[in-house]
Amino acid sequence: MADSLQTSSSTTTARLSLRSKSSDSGLDSGLRSISFPLKSLKLLTRQVVIKQPIKSRRTTELVVKAMEVDISLSPRVNSVKPSKTVAITDQATALVQAGVPVIRLAAGEPDFDTPAPIAEAGKNAIREGYTRYTPNAGTLEIRQAICNKLKEENGISYTPDQILVSNGAKQSIVQAVMAVCSPGDEVIIPAPFWVSYPEMARLADAKPVILPTHISENFLLDPKVLESKLTEKSRLLILCSPSNPTGSVYPKRLLEEIAQVVAKYPRLLVLSDEIYEHIIYAPATHTSFASLPGMWERTLTVNGFSKAFAMTGWRLGYLAGPKHFVSACGKIQSQFTSGASSIAQKAGVAALGLGYAGGEAVSIMVKAFRERRDFLVKSFGELEGVKISEPKGAFYLFIDFSSYYGTEADGFGKIENSESLCRYLLDEGQVALVPGDAFGDDSCIRISYAASLTTLQAAVERIKKALLLLRRAVPV
Ligand SMILES: Cc1ncc(COP(=O)(O)O)c(C=O)c1O
Repeated sequence: MADSLQTSSSTTTARLSLRSKSSDSGLDSGLRSISFPLKSLKLLTRQVVIKQPIKSRRTTELVVKAMEVDISLSPRVNSVKPSKTVAITDQATALVQAGVPVIRLAAGEPDFDTPAPIAEAGKNAIREGYTRYTPNAGTLEIRQAICNKLKEENGISYTPDQILVSNGAKQSIVQAVMAVCSPGDEVIIPAPFWVSYPEMARLADAKPVILPTHISENFLLDPKVLESKLTEKSRLLILCSPSNPTGSVYPKRLLEEIAQVVAKYPRLLVLSDEIYEHIIYAPATHTSFASLPGMWERTLTVNGFSKAFAMTGWRLGYLAGPKHFVSACGKIQSQFTSGASSIAQKAGVAALGLGYAGGEAVSIMVKAFRERRDFLVKSFGELEGVKISEPKGAFYLFIDFSSYYGTEADGFGKIENSESLCRYLLDEGQVALVPGDAFGDDSCIRISYAASLTTLQAAVERIKKALLLLRRAVPV
């Protein structure tokens, strides 16, 4: 066989030779050549042999002695940053698997099991053979249940054709961003933000516009700051209440002020991420942005089952909004993943059947989260130089540790920022936390209190001990 890959000296063309031979005579019976351009590719070289029977006693053998593969990636991939929360969680998990007793407080995942009636509904779905594709938008049963929930708990009216069920709220959000943003549009994101919002905007070729908020104002967006940043390119404002990473909850009055600003910009839509809605600490209350006067038409409400119902692995979330936008998102989903898991949808119906705001099963979890929040706020509040805004919802504490920047520890070096502080706390204290710069605020670090009180007590002890070893760097 003389299969060949021929390249000119400038590597512009490669030739593949395709031979057919009689397997018993060994005689060549034909030769075909295909030429293709290589141009200025990033190349990987390896040898590939493909044998393919074409008749009972003959084979076609394709030998590419030095196949050159273009390994360049789309500019879209290069414009997106990987999720730091996922990276740190993976790193901490790898350390635990290697035997290092790391306390993991980086993940945004409840430490509770999915409540039994929900899990049972999932099992029943499998037993009863409810294992086929569902309609792209979700079953009528779950969409109707979502409509009932939104009406009863949030005061917003939708019909099932205004609901799109997806594989997690993450998918609901990215589809919404892709459906409404044109290249160059601005997506307005108050910081600190959930890590995925700016990257989703970039994936849609839109431009994230970050509006800083301050710990002294409980990380809530000032409507005047919002108004000063809006332009005719502003297409989508993303609000998240209760917030990941700060736990802030927008009071109704403030949302009304924001709505008044939004109403002045006809192109501006609002994506209201309400996934932590039920994890809220009284007297704080949740207001759905779409329930405010004049906002229904321009609001895309996102919610899901992962957090309140401890269903992260089931992958179930949804979007509610005017039919025009929801159908556009459905079109993307239909070519992307199709409908969510049939089993998860049955479990979702059971979750919504647990009662108002998830009933007893959810309130037990919220009570535990509240105890943990109180413990952490008290424990870190005792540290000098640390600033805290008491979270009113979700299960994160976003603490300002910037007074430790500029300190150093023997064998580690200088703490420059949130990233090096988290690395230090992982090295010295063996506690995994997420640096605030991942959320657009480098002065803070995020502690997830989706862990038992005993675990949190051990973590606080380790963090405090590690912080005590830091001393102010002496200027040279
Ligand atoms: C603010 C926020 N929105 C949306 C999601 C996505 O949730 P899921 O895709 O699990 O439903 C998360 C998950 O961490 C989140 O924190």
